[in-house]
Amino acid sequence: MNITFDKVTGQFQLNNDRISYVMQVLNGGYLAHLYFGSKISRYRGSAALSYYDRGFSPQPYDFRHDRTFSLDTQPLEYSTYGIGDYRITPLHIQYKNGSTITDLRYKGHKIIAGKPELTGLPATYALSDEDAQTLEIELVDETEKVNVFLSYTIFHTLPVICRSSRILNNSDKAIRILKADSLSLDFRDHDFDMLTLYGAHANERNLCRQPLQHSIQTVASNRGASSHQQSPFIALAKPQTNEQQGEVYGFSLVYSGNFAIQTEVDQFGCTRLNIGLNPLDFSWQLTSGQSFQTPETVSVYSAEGLNDMSHTFHQLYRTRLIRGSYKEKLRPILVNNWEATYFDFNEAKIDQLASDAADLGIELLVLDDGWFGQRNDDNTSLGDWFVNTAKLPDGLKGLAEKVIARGLKFGLWVEPEMVSEASELYKAHADWCIQVAGHSFTEGRHQLILDLSRQDVCDYLVDTLSSVFSSAPISYVKWDMNRHMTEIGSAQLPPERQRETAHRYMLGLYQIMDKLTAKFPDILFESCSGGGGRFDAGILYYMPQTWTSDNTDAICRLKIQHGTSLVFPPISMGAHVSVIPNHQVGRSTPMQTRAFTAMAGTFGYELDLGKLSTADKAAVKEHVALYKKIRPTCQLGTYTRLLSPFESNESAWQAISTDGNQVVVTYCKILAEPASQIRILKLAGLDSNAEYKITDCYKPKRLSLVYADEPGSNLIGQSFGGDELMNAGITIDRIDADFISTMWILEKVK
Ligand code: GLA
Repeated sequence: MNITFDKVTGQFQLNNDRISYVMQVLNGGYLAHLYFGSKISRYRGSAALSYYDRGFSPQPYDFRHDRTFSLDTQPLEYSTYGIGDYRITPLHIQYKNGSTITDLRYKGHKIIAGKPELTGLPATYALSDEDAQTLEIELVDETEKVNVFLSYTIFHTLPVICRSSRILNNSDKAIRILKADSLSLDFRDHDFDMLTLYGAHANERNLCRQPLQHSIQTVASNRGASSHQQSPFIALAKPQTNEQQGEVYGFSLVYSGNFAIQTEVDQFGCTRLNIGLNPLDFSWQLTSGQSFQTPETVSVYSAEGLNDMSHTFHQLYRTRLIRGSYKEKLRPILVNNWEATYFDFNEAKIDQLASDAADLGIELLVLDDGWFGQRNDDNTSLGDWFVNTAKLPDGLKGLAEKVIARGLKFGLWVEPEMVSEASELYKAHADWCIQVAGHSFTEGRHQLILDLSRQDVCDYLVDTLSSVFSSAPISYVKWDMNRHMTEIGSAQLPPERQRETAHRYMLGLYQIMDKLTAKFPDILFESCSGGGGRFDAGILYYMPQTWTSDNTDAICRLKIQHGTSLVFPPISMGAHVSVIPNHQVGRSTPMQTRAFTAMAGTFGYELDLGKLSTADKAAVKEHVALYKKIRPTCQLGTYTRLLSPFESNESAWQAISTDGNQVVVTYCKILAEPASQIRILKLAGLDSNAEYKITDCYKPKRLSLVYADEPGSNLIGQSFGGDELMNAGITIDRIDADFISTMWILEKVK
């Protein structure tokens, strides 16, 4: 890892063993982007920038005698509005005189060991000063007295560049930031497919792949959360790139609120990508001497396909984003009472669930929504975080102690950012909500959002939640957030700062999460927003796992988890077995398929265990025991997608343990077909020179016929070379029912 600056050429080069990132200070001080991709030991400019006199591409004043120079035609690092670059720009500032023109030139730079923190914002971190190096480039607009600091971190071992920017108002007047992106990146071609993750509540992170077009394409959220609808992620892949090979650039914004990602293919066939806060309904007033820090964007490069890109994201996020005592700790198998009881529970029911769970080997019971205030449905009581003693006469403490006495840990659901109109809190503090005076408000799930842009509200929440979390032996907290923002405004901000509310909310939320996670280091926090509506790298910095979706149907989950795994490691994805017919889609799938699908994330149950048949109880017991054997591999190992449910009637994935000795392979066929196709599944990432023994094969249990002579069944106990398993593959058994899955466990032969 090395960052160099060549004073003669004005060239910066960031290198590690896998990637290079190159920039150059051009004449006049404009900062050009030269290269990002596979490592080039020493970049000398064989692909020189092209200079032509191009019609309608104007010259900056200093270059008026050189008609070949225009900012409209050059790849730039952080272009600005109003000085001849007509493409989408990452920065837009309004000055006191009303003008929005900014002209940034290179002023200086610093190279720093390690990676400085971003004040008030989540970000990846370096493990030591040797783990990463950071370049900070300072640009300045001498007329407006505004300085912009562009930060670039390169990690020693990972093909990753992290970028963010900071804007400093050095003038004596206030300025207004209208747009400030974290990253702007120019490519000198547009031969890319753009991969994004779209969805809806209970249908998150579907994979969309489409070619870049000669136009501006936007992926964004203006909902006050990163959202179910679009994710703060984009990959630009060469059209021939697939899971196992080809070039791809992946980008993930470390932020949980409104964001925008834009691509533009320009008139010369070049591409610009901008990523940052959504400028819609955003502005930020900077008084003299103040600065504004943007969130961070993580950029990953791979020349070896989408899986390799995901492996980098998984490794980075698992080791250099997630923090706290659960960072490397295996996550408990839990049972959550939500789909088991919804609001209709009491202490006896929960205690019974704990007793059933203990018999089956489950390790943690989570008490979901409905334990506080008058909360017997979702119309009331958010904000009233005192226990409903009609349901729980011995309080949280009494219940938690009973659960613990049965050998389980105790977890609790909260939704702190919200308030119900029908609540004590709302009666006392109606002005604590996000609102615009004089407007009626829009309700979602009969609730309003607390104004976390206010310090008094943040302090109140830290105090209130601290009392709840200390009131009982609580080992796990599920932190929910169940509506999106409307009528965005704050009673405490002056008119010129109203458009800061949504971002100030996120800063408030991060501050609360930071304080509470520091105060309760032994609690495992799981974030949630109606499932995976805020599954992003910002929240993961505070809470090491997220409830992936309110949709617990195993077949829907194949897609949801596949899409999520593009960016996020399995250990961060909550995944539970639920009852059939499934509550979201009415589908009935075999218990084994529900379990195997949930084992692709942090495994748990979300059903009334007491109502299961004897056979299903035996299956749960077997699955819990199996998961305990493969848990380190599933949670900490290398996860690879083998077959995509977006492309076919099947899905497959595998995990290899950190020491490479255990391999868990799962295959699921969605719908059965007549004249079943012959299917071979090729494994990936094994050691070609090692032997692997198939120690177990969990085959379909509910087939009308059992094919003892089918190929997969007689592989148990046999050993094969890694090269054979990857190149020749294993034959999938004939399938004679819908929603059938198989799992193989392989051990490396020493
Ligand atoms: C959200 C969550 C669910 C459950 C309910 C409770 O929808 O995603 O898992 O906790 O809230 O109201």
